[in-house]
Amino acid sequence: MPDEDRHRQSRLFTDDDGGFDAERAREQSLPVEDGEVVDTDELADHQHYVEGRGIYDERNRVNDLTGKEWKFATKSVIAQGYPPAVQHELRSEHGGQKPPRLCAELIGRFSTAGDTVLDPFAGVGGTLLGASFCEHEGTGLREAIGFEQNDRWIDIYEEVLERENADRRERGEPPLAAQELRHGDCAELIDDLEADSVDLLLTDVPYWHMDELEQTRNERATRESKLGSFDTVDDTDLAGGDADDAADGDVTDSVASEPTDEAPTQTKAEWLAEMADKFDRFTDAVSPDGHVVVFIGDMYRDQSYEFLSADLARALESETSLTLAANLIWYDPSKDLHVYGYPFSFVPSMVHQNVLVFRVADAE
Ligand SMILES: C[S@@+](CC[C@H](N)C(=O)[O-])C[C@H]1O[C@@H](n2cnc3c(N)ncnc32)[C@H](O)[C@@H]1O
Repeated sequence: MPDEDRHRQSRLFTDDDGGFDAERAREQSLPVEDGEVVDTDELADHQHYVEGRGIYDERNRVNDLTGKEWKFATKSVIAQGYPPAVQHELRSEHGGQKPPRLCAELIGRFSTAGDTVLDPFAGVGGTLLGASFCEHEGTGLREAIGFEQNDRWIDIYEEVLERENADRRERGEPPLAAQELRHGDCAELIDDLEADSVDLLLTDVPYWHMDELEQTRNERATRESKLGSFDTVDDTDLAGGDADDAADGDVTDSVASEPTDEAPTQTKAEWLAEMADKFDRFTDAVSPDGHVVVFIGDMYRDQSYEFLSADLARALESETSLTLAANLIWYDPSKDLHVYGYPFSFVPSMVHQNVLVFRVADAE
């Protein structure tokens, strides 16, 4: 198109003040991005314009996002609360549940439509519901497989899906697809999956439950310390890893309300070794192009910060073939604040969780 024609086209869509009128341009079915008409003639063969979303590059191996969407999806902080939704009351019996729409957001960043997503610690199915939301609120349905050892959580997932779909029917919305939640120990169930059959592993690991001996030792040290005021603070209140609960509309602390069938007493070293061993086996099922994405909250215990996310990242990097690509921070601005440590010592009010992102194989 000669230059003068291009200028003429832009002038056609000026508003009364002489500015570019994007709305009018869109009404004429012209692609508009960042306040300008996109010149689709200038796109390379591997690019095409997706209406309302921007330019998609067919070489994209990571997700279905356009360049504009990718820019936001690579932000290292997700600063968003997720108000109670998707039968939250039912799901909150779990105490460690993740908001399905946050899971959908992460699934959209690290997989493409039709991909397979695995959650080996599925709980009441935040990841599975997220994969189903991708059909209606993302770029397309993902097939999800979950493993869960507690059949109570499987029953709840099924009940949630049934009730949510009844509500959706009433609102005239299409149903959420049912995903596969398998009952059993993930260490055994993982053997049923073929190598490289999973594109994204998204999970929320069972928390480390401090060994009783270690805890007693720490409590004694706390009592003997000058900052004895901490004795009055419930240990559980100082635990992190509960940003999901408040964000998902639950103000209880997840560590306290986590089911007791999750390794009740363990040293941190034992917990890290167990996680490394399990992830080493999970990783065989993930394709070399895939990602492993792990929610993990840090904790504050006995006057010290337990940097569990860093510890877990190091353990997985050293004991498995995973390479850490990012630590995303999920910051929930709506989370309630409590007064910890005042006025003697700084104790963080945890309003974030870490989302560790690993690559299975090194990028070329
Ligand atoms: C932090 S919760 C996951 C919550 C989940 N993201 C959700 O939205 O409900 C971890 C889950 O892993 C399960 N779990 C722990 N060890 C397991 C194992 N060896 N095999 C299968 N599930 C296990 C626990 O029962 C718990 O429900």
